[in-house]
Amino acid sequence: MATTFAPRIFSGIQPSGGITLGNYLGALKRFVEKQDEGIETIYCMVDMHAITVWQDPETLRHQTREGAAAFIAAGIDPARSILFNQSQVAAHAQLAWIFNCVARMGWMSRMTQWKDKTAGKNAEAASLGLFAYPALMAADIMAYHATMVPVGEDQKQHLELTRDIAIKFNNDYGVEYFPVVEPLIEGVATRVMSLRDGTKKMSKSDPSDQSRINLTDDADTIAGKIRKAKTDAAPLPDTAGALRDRPEARNLVSIYAALAGHTVDQVIADFAGAQFGSFKPALADLAVAKLSPITTEMNRLMKDPAEIDRILGHGADRAEAISRPIVDRVYDITGMIRSRRG
Ligand code: AMP
Ligand code: TRP
Repeated sequence: MATTFAPRIFSGIQPSGGITLGNYLGALKRFVEKQDEGIETIYCMVDMHAITVWQDPETLRHQTREGAAAFIAAGIDPARSILFNQSQVAAHAQLAWIFNCVARMGWMSRMTQWKDKTAGKNAEAASLGLFAYPALMAADIMAYHATMVPVGEDQKQHLELTRDIAIKFNNDYGVEYFPVVEPLIEGVATRVMSLRDGTKKMSKSDPSDQSRINLTDDADTIAGKIRKAKTDAAPLPDTAGALRDRPEARNLVSIYAALAGHTVDQVIADFAGAQFGSFKPALADLAVAKLSPITTEMNRLMKDPAEIDRILGHGADRAEAISRPIVDRVYDITGMIRSRRG
């Protein structure tokens, strides 16, 4: 009989840049909804993933705290959810090593994120960590026996790999130890696109700051970026289907829908026939109304970094208490002697 696992959510965000509107709509906002549904939720600033590409240490520390502040400002309650940074809990690195020995080179080399990040560059010069990145991600999830992972569309393939690693581990060792995780890719904003190019994902690592809205942007900056966002010349159509070949228009309509909590059909019904000259100011007003309270709260929290570190430390203690026995058991299963007691 298949082992059943209690519902538990895990997800992570990299502190490799500021939190973007894509992270907010695709991840953070949904993390809060899951917490508020009363499911056990564990959220992590994945600092060890961030250093798979070069990070200045002081900037990394700042961005880790800023990310944590964004979680809290967006509605994550550190008393209800576990909120911490990955490197404080050794189970992640320990299980990642085991998974490095379960996953196959071929699996890793088929990851589109790896291929994208090394495309046109010298793959020989990429870090080994960047290649192994999905095994660490699988470890993040499996160290808690998490069953559900809310993410944006771009992480789907990594979650399929997580399933493959869990299944191979179970098969190789003849156990039913790891759950087969379920990706939660839901809502109208699972893939928010760049404001400069509707065919590219909005990303914290895009060289153009105009391509994204950051949670640290002030109202004027947000409005300016939306005003300058790339669009086509046609007015908004009267059916959602007519947006199919208009990536920039579709992106702005989806962002509006996600921020307003409406469906794309509802937004189209309200704005059919509107020119971008009137739609963009409406979107800017909505974005500022939804994001500026979060920005204000983030700025307030960032004035007390020691308090943020205290919250992360407390979260790490709780994360440690869950993951320690899970990873100890993996060591037993794989034949590692654990004879230190106390
Ligand atoms: P990252 O910034 O790569 O650490 O991503 C953290 C989370 O945000 C993951 O769940 C991503 O799938 C999600 N995410 C990142 N960029 C976007 C985007 N442009 N649209 C939707 N979700 C995104
Ligand atoms: N790879 C994810 C991203 O870049 C971040 C991440 C790391 C993650 N570990 C995770 C997401 C575990 C979900 C679960 O978006």
